This record gives sequence, structure tokens and C-alpha cells, in this order.
Amino acid sequence: MRTSAALLTLENLSVRYGEVRAVEAVDLTVGVGEVVSILGANGAGKSSLLRAISGEAGHVDGRVSLRDVDLLKGPRYGVARRGVAHVMEGRRVIPTLSVIDNLLLAANASRRVSRGSVPGALEEMYAYFPRLRERQSQAAGLLSGGEQQMLAIGRALMAKPDLLLLDEPSMGLAPIMIEEIYDILRARDGILGECSVLLAEQSAAVALSVSDRAYVLSRGSVVFEGQASELDAGRVAAAYLQG
Ligand SMILES: Nc1ncnc2c1ncn2[C@@H]1O[C@H](COP(=O)(O)OP(=O)(O)OP(=O)(O)O)[C@@H](O)[C@H]1O
Ligand SMILES: [Mg+2]
Repeated sequence: MRTSAALLTLENLSVRYGEVRAVEAVDLTVGVGEVVSILGANGAGKSSLLRAISGEAGHVDGRVSLRDVDLLKGPRYGVARRGVAHVMEGRRVIPTLSVIDNLLLAANASRRVSRGSVPGALEEMYAYFPRLRERQSQAAGLLSGGEQQMLAIGRALMAKPDLLLLDEPSMGLAPIMIEEIYDILRARDGILGECSVLLAEQSAAVALSVSDRAYVLSRGSVVFEGQASELDAGRVAAAYLQG
């Protein structure tokens, strides 16, 4: 399923917020169907890197290419239309809307999904996340933290992205729920299909367990990159302290 063709290429990417240099000269690729992790301590620049791709970061320099298209050149909404979905830190769902309305809104807002295919996409989502079907009429704000994370990922996948940017999905969740969330990334023939994933995590062990490759960021710079199988969580923790 994985190929060597690059879907996403970052070249010499830097992000600044005024005087703060959050990301410095990062080169990174994500292949079609690949799961790639960005690991790093608090403040390393993981979220800034993901936000630079979806057009949400501060001042961005360098190149962000999706296939051959430069994402930095077009408008921000163009990024979603080109097939990038971003699940930000902190489980962004619409708390006052029901679970089903959260999912339908995400699908209907996407130009990549035809109206006629929405019911089928919803059924597919429920088949994969029975918990969301059980809770479909409840307000999203009443779900547990893990269920909200599941819904946030479900919303992103309803838009049928080619690239899923996933920011700290494990944050604040109990270990059993983290496993359930990460099962989404493990089942490559499941709901994810051919979608590539760029995953930001502080928790190296769980991220490495689902990743093909990983990059370790320290103070905005890449201090290690390689196959996930070459890295162990202890080595990553040591890299967190560098820089
Ligand atoms: N909107 C902002 N304005 C100013 N500085 C910011 C902003 N967002 C992030 N930063 C700074 O940029 C640096 C990188 O932050 P970022 O949130 O990207 O790191 P992170 O690796 O995602 O951290 P965490 O693990 O805590 O989520 C930090 O020094 C942070 O304080
Ligand atoms: Mg972050």
C-alpha cells in the first residue's frame, strides 16, 4: 500500500512568531499512505510545523508542497480543498451540536465529497466507530475526552483527505483510550484507506508503534530522522534534551 512517491514535501521550512523562532529550516517528506511522526518535548515546534502546512501558523518561510502544488502560495481554504485535514490540539468538535451533525457538517463543508456520497460515508464512519453511532444524538460537548478525540478524527476523515495532520491525539487520555484512538492508525485497511498521516506527539512510544518513519524536533530543528523501527523511546527522550 505504501509507495515511495512523496505526497508532502517540506523544504527549509521555518516558522516565526515575532521574535520567537518556533521551527528552523526543517526538511521533511510524507509518502503516499505513510504514517510519519514528529516527536519532541513541550514547545519543540510540533504544532507550529503542522499549522504551517494548513496555513494557520505565524510567519512561514520555505516550501510546503503537496504533490507538485505549493500550499504556501494559495489561500488557506485551498489547503483543505487540496485534501489536507488538520485535527488540532485539544479535540476540536462543535460542543453544542450533536455527534451526527458534527460529522455531517464536516462532510458537507468539503468540496471533495459529493452530496450523494455523504450517507454512505456516515455509515462507514459508524461501522468503524460504533461508539459514535451509539452517541449520535448527544451533544458533542457531553462526550468523554476520548470520544471527542474520536469524533474530531471522524470529522476530519469525513472530508476524505489525502493527508491527515494529527496533533497530540493522546493528550489527556487514559491508556486504554489512547490504544483505541491509535487503532485507527494501525488498521491500514480500515477507515484511513490510502490517507497519509503526519502525527505530532510527545509520547514517543505510542507514536512509534504506528509509524513508518519519525522525525525528532528539538527547539524547532530536526535532531533525528529515520525509520520508526530504528528509534526507541529512550533514544528519543535523550534527543528531547539536546539543543
Ligand atoms: N501563537 C504563538 N505566538 C507566539 N509564540 C508561539 C505561538 N505558538 C507557539 N509559540 C511558541 O513557539 C514555540 C513552539 O511551540 P509549539 O506549540 O509549536 O510546540 P509544540 O511542540 O507543539 O509543544 P506542545 O508539546 O506543548 O504542544 C514555543 O516556544 C511556543 O511558545
Ligand atoms: Mg503542540
